[in-house]
Amino acid sequence: MSSSDKSQAKSKETVFVEHRMGANGLEKVILRELRGFSAEVYLYGGQVTSWKNELGEELLFVSSKAIFKPPKAIRGGIPVCFPQFSNNGSLEQHGFARKRLWTVDPDPPPLSTANTSRAFIDLILKNSEEDAKIWPHRYEFRLRISLGPQGDLMLTSRIRNTNTDGKPFSFTFAYLTHLQVTDISEVRVEGLETIDYLDNLQNRQRFTEQGDALTFESEVDRVYLRTPTKIAVIDHERKRTYVVKKDGLPDAVVWNPWDKKSKAMPDLGDKDYLRMICVQAACVEKPITLKPGEEWKGRQQITAVRSSYCSGQLDPQRYFSMAIRTE
Ligand code: BG6
Repeated sequence: MSSSDKSQAKSKETVFVEHRMGANGLEKVILRELRGFSAEVYLYGGQVTSWKNELGEELLFVSSKAIFKPPKAIRGGIPVCFPQFSNNGSLEQHGFARKRLWTVDPDPPPLSTANTSRAFIDLILKNSEEDAKIWPHRYEFRLRISLGPQGDLMLTSRIRNTNTDGKPFSFTFAYLTHLQVTDISEVRVEGLETIDYLDNLQNRQRFTEQGDALTFESEVDRVYLRTPTKIAVIDHERKRTYVVKKDGLPDAVVWNPWDKKSKAMPDLGDKDYLRMICVQAACVEKPITLKPGEEWKGRQQITAVRSSYCSGQLDPQRYFSMAIRTE
């Protein structure tokens, strides 16, 4: 069989998008691409809860104690923080979008011609009477989640102001991405060197990151400001590198709760902090403001590749162009 015959046969077998029942009767969608990568998306929260490579290895972290039941947010995967990141505003921590039931978008924006993915789902969240009591605005939030042909996981958000009272609105935003790692003390984050950050553990004071890659030996909760568009997370132990690429999202949040906070969180296992690192494409420092009719777009793409990285080898720019061939 020629390679094109083989891929056609495989394509016939592959169910690219499958709707299923998840935990506690919540609806979920499974995405699969030809090489064998897959992702799982809960309509509750519009939340990616799994992303597996062609070997079936899980790449995202979900807490062993995660609660898949409204009104709790699911601990792990990729919660979407909107219309507020953190508790720095009038709304609840990280906004309400991660605790709402999204629907499948009946009228999604057309796919760009460069995007050949068949493994994608378009979700939508709109204002409700209930939410208008705490955030008095009309909006349409379209979220496309897709797997690229190389297995990369892409999330594209489009948020439109549909207010009819002529009023603008402002929001902050983050893809709270929990990556799975083998041992947090063997993880390095590259791409944030010399970048200014707000330290959530020190009243949001501003500091400047040192010239070395970021490593972990205690709790970290920082908002890096106006970062490069590519950040590499290197899991030495597993010989795996995640490359997070972002667009329309100037900031990046890095979070690991470490042992004390993990123990204090009822939906996080005591030792779970060892296996996770949150690196989040975000817009925190300068909120986005939209006038009626205006739309904002923010995208995050993650690639996971095998790496045999030794300190100083990685040029994220070069690395990324090798790893991503979908654009
Ligand atoms: C991170 C924040 O994004 O999310 C942390 O930087 C926060 O400050 C963490 O603790 C988890 O938040 P939550 O609301 O899901 O417990």
